[in-house]
Amino acid sequence: RKTMTEAELYSVYKGVYVPKGLHPPECLKYYEEFNFRQDDILIATYPKSGTTWMQEIVPLIQSEGDLTPVQTIPNWDRVPWLEEHRASILNLEERPSPRIFATHFHYNMMPESFFKVKPKVLYVLRNPKDIFTSSFHYYGMASFLVNPGAVDEFMEKFLNGKVMFGSWFDHVKGWIHAKDQEHILYIFYEEMIMDLKESVRKLSCFMGKSLSEEVIEKISDHCVFKNMKQNKMSNYSLVPTEFFDQKKSEFLRKGIVGDWRNTLTTAQSDNFDTVYKEKMKDVKFKFFWD
Ligand code: A3P
Repeated sequence: RKTMTEAELYSVYKGVYVPKGLHPPECLKYYEEFNFRQDDILIATYPKSGTTWMQEIVPLIQSEGDLTPVQTIPNWDRVPWLEEHRASILNLEERPSPRIFATHFHYNMMPESFFKVKPKVLYVLRNPKDIFTSSFHYYGMASFLVNPGAVDEFMEKFLNGKVMFGSWFDHVKGWIHAKDQEHILYIFYEEMIMDLKESVRKLSCFMGKSLSEEVIEKISDHCVFKNMKQNKMSNYSLVPTEFFDQKKSEFLRKGIVGDWRNTLTTAQSDNFDTVYKEKMKDVKFKFFWD
């Protein structure tokens, strides 16, 4: 495809790149004025950390294992992104509680009502080298993103935050140092891979839902990669190829831990680690991959 530049495809919003087409000014204004409810559930992620996975799990916890919502409603309407153009036309004000939303915003980009109301937040973390790898493939298949070029070129951009939603480091640091952490649950992609049932249990507990072992089993079984990949309401096969060319790379691509090993050379991985150490040197938070 024709190579479009950052200037052509992105706008800068509160200091980070956002794809222009998905986030026109009026929808960002809608989010700025959005009124949260205390019982809202907000899935907050840096892109490629496991958002789609959570958009499947959380509604199933809410429905106590009834598959109807995930089998009949596309994930972007089931758990809409508040910063995306669709949010303003979905009548979210009319949705019954608890409403479930997603956002890629950094903590300091959140609208005023968020800090007043303190809705429940599920913040998903993932090893940044795997996020980098997932992004590398994703940027190659999504027409609204700038072609990644070679690994070195894309790594330079990724490590400097010249990608959509800015720097992974800033995103994570903002959210892990959030005030009022009682309303935030931190969960790792890696722990979900290791023990999905335990993760579903942890999430449901935080959401105030007490589920039977049988229901937890049913949800976990539906949400394992190979099963979820078959769900056309969640695998983005409903999105036209002009936006997502899944022949180049599927949206539900591999769903594993450590795929960076298949993409980065030792030198590239070392370079990544050096930047990571420097940028995270004052951070006390215990990451799954440390
Ligand atoms: P990979 O590209 O490494 O496969 P997001 O939804 O935040 O954009 O993240 C997408 C990543 O989450 C992709 O990673 C995708 O395959 C992975 N993913 C989605 N559903 C998953 C599941 N059920 N199990 C494991 N990984 C999943």
